[in-house]
Amino acid sequence: MVEAKKAAEHAYAPYSKFRVGAALQLTNGEVVTGANVENASYGLTICAERSAVVRAVAQFGPAMRIAAVAVTNLNGAASAPCGACRQVLGEFMAPDAPVTFATDDGTKTMRIDELLPVGFVLRSA
Ligand code: THU
Repeated sequence: MVEAKKAAEHAYAPYSKFRVGAALQLTNGEVVTGANVENASYGLTICAERSAVVRAVAQFGPAMRIAAVAVTNLNGAASAPCGACRQVLGEFMAPDAPVTFATDDGTKTMRIDELLPVGFVLRSA
C-alpha cells in the first residue's frame, strides 16, 4: 500500500483531482506501479490499475503474472478498482489472488474472483 500511495503522487488528474495509485506484486518478485492518466477527452482516461498492468507487460512480457494488487488514492476516499480494471487485472491473476484497496475507514482485501465473479474469457474454438 505504501508503494501504491507513492505511485499516486505521479497521477495526472487535472480534471477529477482524484489521484489514484496501484502497485502490482508480480510472481517474479518485482513490484510495478501505475497512476491514473486523465485526458481532456474524458473517456480516454486510463486508471491507475490498468496503467500498472500495461507497464508490467511492457517491462516483463506477456507471461508476467500478478500475485497481489494494492490500490489507493491521495484523496482519503474509498478506491475499489472499477469494473474495467477488474477485468484487465483478472487476466493476469490466479482466481484467489488478493486485491487490497482503500475503503472509507481503512483498507479491505478481496480475491479477484470475488471482485469479478464471472469475468469474460475468450476460448479458442
Ligand atoms: N480511477 C482509477 O484510477 N482507478 C479506478 O479503479 C477507478 C477510477 C481514476 C480514473 C479517473 O482519473 C479518476 O479516478 C476519477 O474517476
